[in-house]
Amino acid sequence: ANSSPNIASTFIVGTSHEGREIHGIKITAPGDASGRPSVLFNGCQHAREWVAVMVPVYVAEHLIEGWDDDVEIQSLLGSTQVIIVPIVNPDGYEYTYASDGDRFWRKNRRVNNGPCMGVDLNRNWDIDWNGDDSTSTNTCSDVYVGEYPFSEPETQAMRDLINAQTNLVAHIDFHNYSQLVLEAWAYTYDPPERVNVIKALSASMSEAIESVHGELYVPGGSELLYPADGTFQDWSSSVGALGYTIELRPTGSPGFDLPPEEIAPTCEENFAATIAMLRFLQNPIVFSFPNGLPQHVEPGQLHAFEVAIESVFDEPINADSATLHVRYGSDGPFASRSIVSNGDGTYVAELPISHCGLPSEYFFTA
Ligand code: ARG
Ligand code: ZN
Repeated sequence: ANSSPNIASTFIVGTSHEGREIHGIKITAPGDASGRPSVLFNGCQHAREWVAVMVPVYVAEHLIEGWDDDVEIQSLLGSTQVIIVPIVNPDGYEYTYASDGDRFWRKNRRVNNGPCMGVDLNRNWDIDWNGDDSTSTNTCSDVYVGEYPFSEPETQAMRDLINAQTNLVAHIDFHNYSQLVLEAWAYTYDPPERVNVIKALSASMSEAIESVHGELYVPGGSELLYPADGTFQDWSSSVGALGYTIELRPTGSPGFDLPPEEIAPTCEENFAATIAMLRFLQNPIVFSFPNGLPQHVEPGQLHAFEVAIESVFDEPINADSATLHVRYGSDGPFASRSIVSNGDGTYVAELPISHCGLPSEYFFTA
């Protein structure tokens, strides 16, 4: 931030239970940013998840460096305010380094009304608070929920940061480990509104991650891990953002103690995920295929199939603009064909099928 005050500024989000500052950095192109939607990346609600600190730090560093010579980053920062908070839980994080501490401490360092210290910050958010999925009211539990929702200064500070945004559109809460891109909701298996949008974005983040070092981070909902109540991603989702938890490396053993040589690659692949998210938000239409893509087609026929078109930001879509573009072979111009609205956000496209052996290519616009 000191080296690039035109695009980056640091701020104090709040103060922890033990009085440490929680630091944030805001990165956006110069000029009036007030109309730009914001995106939040944070790490380290859980103290022992060290690589979840380095990923957001790396993202901040590389967005700032990219501003100098990367036209895509310039464009992304021109349309978004990126807010990064690498350490939500500074007291717990310190404790995992302290000689009389515990490398595998998870919670904050709240002095509880009970035998043990610490509240699980990622069970303290007011969304199905103290439901019975992965929560406990026992102060000695690693998933102790606290005395009431937002009882902790760290969750209060992050909540207030979110409330101060006029338009928070997306959020990633970084954790490790398991290599997952977890979609809302965490607290229930019920599908969220905008499920197609949510899945399209998790798929593109997962693909972006895999393209860097070939590591698979599986996208999906709570069925991939376990449902959990009182989580940050559900809170950000409940206030209208596309909220995700990314579980970083490794997939399993050695667990939280990621080998040092994997820190940089983990950062690199997740920087790609954050860029994929920012790119997705610039391009706010999602196409999905309720009955799948055509698998078996008849030569010389029109093959009808369903397309759903949704706006990421719930803006109206002009049904007359929805178009199928198709060509035979892999060069030459595409022919345009209109597609027919069912009136409920789904459309019927009729794909002209060529003769056997001649591939065709097609895409949609709206
Ligand atoms: N490991 C995280 C925790 O326990 C996961 C939170 C999100 N869970 C989910 N099912 N989406 O806090
Ligand atoms: Zn965690």
